[in-house]
Amino acid sequence: MITKSIAQLLKENSPLEQITLKGWVRTFRANRFIALNDGSTINNIQCVVNFEDFEDALLKRITTGAAIEVSGELVESQGKGQALEIQVSELNILGDSDPETYPIQPKKHSFEFLRENAHLRTRTNTFSAVMRLRSSLSFAIHKYFNDNGFYYMHTPIITGSDAEGAGEMFRVSTLDPKQPPLNDSGDVDYKQDFFGKETNLTVSGQLEAESYAMSLGKVYTFGPTFRAENSNTSRHLAEFWMIEPEVAFMELDGNMDLAEDFMKSVLKYILKHNREDLEFLEKRLLDEEKTKPQNERSSMALIEKIKFVVDNNFKRVSYTEAIDILRNSKPNKKKKFKYLIDQWGADLQSEHERYLVEKHFECPVILFDYPANIKAFYMRLNEDGKTVRAMDILFPGIGEMVGGSQREERLEVLVEKMKALDIPEEELWWYLDLRKYGTAVHSGFGLGFERLVMFVTGMGNIRDVIPYPRTPQNAEF
Ligand code: 4AD
Ligand code: MG
Repeated sequence: MITKSIAQLLKENSPLEQITLKGWVRTFRANRFIALNDGSTINNIQCVVNFEDFEDALLKRITTGAAIEVSGELVESQGKGQALEIQVSELNILGDSDPETYPIQPKKHSFEFLRENAHLRTRTNTFSAVMRLRSSLSFAIHKYFNDNGFYYMHTPIITGSDAEGAGEMFRVSTLDPKQPPLNDSGDVDYKQDFFGKETNLTVSGQLEAESYAMSLGKVYTFGPTFRAENSNTSRHLAEFWMIEPEVAFMELDGNMDLAEDFMKSVLKYILKHNREDLEFLEKRLLDEEKTKPQNERSSMALIEKIKFVVDNNFKRVSYTEAIDILRNSKPNKKKKFKYLIDQWGADLQSEHERYLVEKHFECPVILFDYPANIKAFYMRLNEDGKTVRAMDILFPGIGEMVGGSQREERLEVLVEKMKALDIPEEELWWYLDLRKYGTAVHSGFGLGFERLVMFVTGMGNIRDVIPYPRTPQNAEF
């Protein structure tokens, strides 16, 4: 007896005398045709049941959602719509599914409904395609770094420092929340906490990655990241995954080259290896587009959009140039932006970022050399004394995909900056050590994994590209 996945069978595309398959019933039509799916591919295999050969009681149990095992001959299909089908000679019900209560019916469900049933939503074509792509993308990411001489490093998830000042953090504590010990000044005494100090879930592995770049040369992290920002948007999660490469002896230009090459390379991998899932999602999007008014429809289909990114250079634009473009833009002059741009130094909001990539340049844009005071303390100060070697990569339909920089490698400049921002030196003594012992130019960036999955799958809400989203007021499953 041969056991193979449906994906393998369809790929080999040749008849077999005897085959056994296990999977879940998608539909059972005319008491004769089972559409069976085992998760290995977007495609179902048709299993043909001769109802005279089986008991009625058994046939009744072939319901949508049931787990079954079928054996039989794999033959060229007599019907249209599939090349091969199984002539079922043996059939076992492995797990019944009550058709009255099974939430995933063979019809269109809203994404909101499926989010409430996230434990079953990968039984649908859309979510199984999205999650297979997510898996492939993570593999492609590891492959890219491995092929290019990077070491994969695991940075701590519990940290004692707020690397970024990137936003609110989640506290990690074993103190009794009802009766925490207090110190002399009446504050919670974290000296008595598990780690003997205040600790949080990490907002970035960058600072630790920097320390490894300064010994192993080229490293990257790919791990969970936590931010307690109370922003209920379609692009923010409280728990997301971030990829952070860090490279010694590399300046900002090299950082931009790396980010661009990296993203193009993983997109190429997906185009090559996940064609069927992409085609399915592309069709889904085209159907969705048809329900929109003409002027709101996207000009490119999904695969074309991915190819466009692979085949074209990202546009590199300084913050100062971007401000000029925005200041003179129609929506700014007509006061259509919620936050009007009137002078250099303004922080860019997502409406501005989207105008630049979607309306003005119509391609991915790398913005660099931002004002120092709107960026993190560790970014390298330029000679002008007011901008830093920061870069953000903006994507059409997504906004900010990547944030990175060349790091400040000069001890005095860094110490000065930390003083100005009230960042205690004692807390980051080890980070400062890296500037004392063999300091060197180095750079890196962070890519939000879910935003990349959104771009590749065309999904509009970040909650639909991670298995179990964590967002304000929601930690179900
Ligand atoms: O721009 P950010 O905050 O940069 C850093 O954390 C740096 N330490 C990275 C580095 O240089 N090593 O975050 C990087 C990326 C963003 O561009 C965005 O794609 C994603 O992480 N991101 C989020 N994704 C989902 N939900 C959130 N709440 C996110 N916050 C940031
Ligand atoms: Mg950022």
